[in-house]
Amino acid sequence: MQIFIDTANIAEIKEAISWGCVSGATTNPKIMSCEKPGYSFEEKIKEIIQIVRNPVSVEVTAEDSEGMVKEAEEYASWDENVVIKIPMGKEGLKVVSILGKEGIKTNVTAIMAVNQAILAALSGANYASIFYGRVCDMGYDAFDVIKKTTQLFRLHQIPTKIIVGSIRTLLDINRAFLAGADVLTVPFKFLKMMTENLQTEATVKEFNNVWREMRETGAIRLEPKERVSSTSLSFVKR
Ligand code: E4P
Repeated sequence: MQIFIDTANIAEIKEAISWGCVSGATTNPKIMSCEKPGYSFEEKIKEIIQIVRNPVSVEVTAEDSEGMVKEAEEYASWDENVVIKIPMGKEGLKVVSILGKEGIKTNVTAIMAVNQAILAALSGANYASIFYGRVCDMGYDAFDVIKKTTQLFRLHQIPTKIIVGSIRTLLDINRAFLAGADVLTVPFKFLKMMTENLQTEATVKEFNNVWREMRETGAIRLEPKERVSSTSLSFVKR
C-alpha cells in the first residue's frame, strides 16, 4: 500500500514528501500545464526526482510507437527513478514491450476497463493506472474495475502494480485501497484534507489547554527535582 502525489508543483511535492508517507509522484501533460509557464521540462522533472527520490512517472506525448520510444529513452536517461507513462492503446502496448527489453520501467496510463489492464500487464508494464474519476464519469463503477483487476492479477500472480489516479473525493481513496489498489496517486489538495479533521483539532486543543493550565497553576512541573537543583548549582558555580 503506497501513496504517490499527483502533481508537478515543487512546493506541494516538498511538503507532502516531508510527511514521510508519500513515496512517489505522477505527472502528465495536463498536470505539467498547471505550472508557471516558461520552465524547462527536463529541469522540472529532475528537480522533482531530487525531492521524491522514488518513482516519478513522466508521460510521453508522441502518438506513434517510434516517437514514444525515442521520448521514453531520453526521459529514462535522466534518472533511474523515471517511470515512463505510456497511454493505453495499440501503439502504447508495443512501446511497453520494447522498453521492457531495454530495462526501462513503464506505467500504462488512462486505463478505464479490466480488459485494458490485462493487456498492460501482459505487455510487461510495471504499473497499470486506472482512472477512478473518469471511469465513474462514464457511468461505470470504478470500485468494481479495480477489484476485478486486483483479483485477476493475484489469481495469475501478475507482478504489475495497480495505481489508481483521477481522484475526485476522499472516499475514492478509501474505496480504491479497499478494492485492492497497490498505489493511490493523489492531488495535494486531497492529501492535505486527509491530514485534517475538526474533531482531531478540537481534541488536541482540549488536551493542550488542560496541560497549559496544569503548568501555570504549578500542578505539574516538567523537570525532576534533582535536575532542577543540579542545573541551578552549575549556574551558581559560574
Ligand atoms: C494519474 O496518473 C493521472 O495523472 C491523473 O490522476 C489523471 O486525473 P484526472 O482525471 O484528474 O485528469
